[in-house]
Amino acid sequence: MKETLEKIKLQSVKELESVQSQKELEELRIKYLGKKGELTQVLRGMGGLSPEERPVIGQLANEIRDYINEKIEETAYCLKRKDLEIRLGKEFIDVTMPSKRKALGNKHPLTKVQDEINQIFIGMGFTIVEGPEIEKAYYNFDALNHSKYHPARDMQDTFYFTEEILLRTQTSPMQVRTMELQKPPIRVLVPGKVYRRDEIDATHSPMFHQNEGLVVDKGITMANLKGTLDVFAKKLYGEDTKTRFRPHHFPFTEPSAEMDCTCSACKGAGCRVCKYEGWIEILGAGMVHPNVLRNCGIDPEIYSGFAFGMGLDRIALLKYDVEDLRLFFENDKRFLSQF
Ligand code: DAH
Repeated sequence: MKETLEKIKLQSVKELESVQSQKELEELRIKYLGKKGELTQVLRGMGGLSPEERPVIGQLANEIRDYINEKIEETAYCLKRKDLEIRLGKEFIDVTMPSKRKALGNKHPLTKVQDEINQIFIGMGFTIVEGPEIEKAYYNFDALNHSKYHPARDMQDTFYFTEEILLRTQTSPMQVRTMELQKPPIRVLVPGKVYRRDEIDATHSPMFHQNEGLVVDKGITMANLKGTLDVFAKKLYGEDTKTRFRPHHFPFTEPSAEMDCTCSACKGAGCRVCKYEGWIEILGAGMVHPNVLRNCGIDPEIYSGFAFGMGLDRIALLKYDVEDLRLFFENDKRFLSQF
């Protein structure tokens, strides 16, 4: 029996040396150490041995089993290394190759113009504040001195949730909210989205953007309004820009005006952009109506103020010479990546 065991040992070592794959290795393991394996068979036959021989053969068989096990593990390790070396040789990675470039995004043209406008007003001491797009009719109309029958309140112009709650049609309600929270001196710019029931076309959208401005302090006059907005126009369109004010009507300002700038494309000579007028209207403005001040708990005998509101989208259209407003909202990357 001893010889059989020694033979198994020698034979297994020889066979292990020529193993080429994990599969062959597993087959050998079963052949020698498996339930029906050669070594196991020998151990089963131990019953027929004498009591003296049994422990001797038993120990030898165990040693041989451990030995074969160890050899198998060694072989497995060598096979793995060999596999890895072959793979490393084949799968060559050129780390010097340039990587795939990630496309870098850019700011939306409206955001760019808004940033620019913010900077101009911040430079003049204004604070940027924002307000709710879902607004109370009180702030959007009543507190702003709109009569109960003002046409802007019409269902045809305004998106209502209820009679009292609507999508703001202008950023002007933030004048009231600001004055309710803050006592003069006040200098705020309010950028934001506004909503009106307009059909979409090249110059209209049911959602668009405005900037509201409000200045309230002692001794504020029309001269402050004109000076501030003239500086703004020059910073936005260039130092050679001229401004003019035309009388207008807004319920929440008195007197009210619209401001035109000389066309930035033709410098006032007249061209396609300004429809050959030389001037382009860019905002509404006026002295805050005493009723509005009163509605906000500010005494119009002590304080006065001016306000203005401008459409951001139109300013951006003119600035970038874009002809169709819809391009700003359609999110076509071919268009947006130009800015
Ligand atoms: N809210 C006005 C509109 O949407 C624009 C406006 C005009 C705002 C005059 C003002 C202002 O603050 O003084 O048409």
